Amino acid sequence: MIYLDNNATTPLDPAVFEAMTPFLSTHFGNPSSNNNLGRYARRSLEDARERVAHTLGAHPTEISFNSGGTEGDNHALLGSTLFHPDSPPPGTILISQVEHPAIEEPARRLEVRGYRIDRIPVGPDGCVRISDFESALETDPNIRLVSLMLANNETGAIQPVREVSQLCKERGIPIHTDAVNAAGKIPVRVDNLNIDLLTLSGHKFHGPKGAGILYRRSTCSLGSLMSGGDQEGALRPGTENVAHAAGLAVALENATKNLSGNIERMKRQCQYLMKQIAAIHPSARPSLSPGPALPNTLSLLIPGHSSASLVQKLDQKGVAVSAGAACHAGKTVATSRILVACGLSETEANQTLRISLSRETTDQELKRAIDGFRSVLAATC
Ligand SMILES: Cc1ncc(COP(=O)(O)O)c(C=O)c1O
Repeated sequence: MIYLDNNATTPLDPAVFEAMTPFLSTHFGNPSSNNNLGRYARRSLEDARERVAHTLGAHPTEISFNSGGTEGDNHALLGSTLFHPDSPPPGTILISQVEHPAIEEPARRLEVRGYRIDRIPVGPDGCVRISDFESALETDPNIRLVSLMLANNETGAIQPVREVSQLCKERGIPIHTDAVNAAGKIPVRVDNLNIDLLTLSGHKFHGPKGAGILYRRSTCSLGSLMSGGDQEGALRPGTENVAHAAGLAVALENATKNLSGNIERMKRQCQYLMKQIAAIHPSARPSLSPGPALPNTLSLLIPGHSSASLVQKLDQKGVAVSAGAACHAGKTVATSRILVACGLSETEANQTLRISLSRETTDQELKRAIDGFRSVLAATC
């Protein structure tokens, strides 16, 4: 199997597996227990928190561990509104049109409860315009929160989070970013982004599934979605998963090692793929116009070919790619609202393939993937 679906999930880094194993066997203590095993678990948990904070440019008290991207995104939105400690009256939430369902769906829940959701459009490069955020911030005095993803999981488009953060800071409005599909592909540091809330998910950067990180700036007030314990500073009650925390710390550190070298290699590999596929099928082209984008993601429009059927045929050849977000797989094929928001027609969106690499993807694998593309596209031409 040649795995080119790394925006859906990534294989576990062996060093992460090794870091987690003791906590799944001999070192099983509860970090809240006042015995040797418990104290060891507590020290390990806090060590993981410090390492994560250091990698992200944060203070350890600003890091909480959770179950992943969906939880982090829901927590940022709902903890800033319905569950906010000050019970603020409904106001406006500013998001983009291309947010992951983990933002879009809680936003719809807020809409039902009287919040106004202002969805900023994107251009043909998949990116929002800073000026659109500026005028929304200027005209609406009731904005409670801005949430803008750092990188899109389907298209790879990178959003101007730092610039929008600056606009929010000038107006005292909190800002969250979903950095789930950015980590390990571009630098992610909360100090550089000047962000208040940031979501990460372990399995997108060779860490464990069901394990994530929520960064909350110490000055940003956020309610908890659950009650029943004071773990994670009462922000995320429940006995902590020390194995996950230890794994996340190593995964995040390893995701930042040799990052610029990995970025250059993945960029070159994406260019190679684009060139080779265009040589097989001359009308194949990037689905978006050029703009800031992840180095590992190729969103490829292959006219004349349904992406759903291409995914199946490539799978039979041992090449794993995706027709859109993996989270939607298994449901009846729905046209990607993200690609349509970027200006693609329904037909074009349904002929768009997502190929996503990781730091582990080799040139040799790509040569074999091209053989798969050649036989599939030649057979269906
Ligand atoms: C941008 C983005 N946000 C959030 C999520 C949800 O993360 P998780 O799978 O950890 O719940 C994903 C997963 O595909 C994602 O790509």
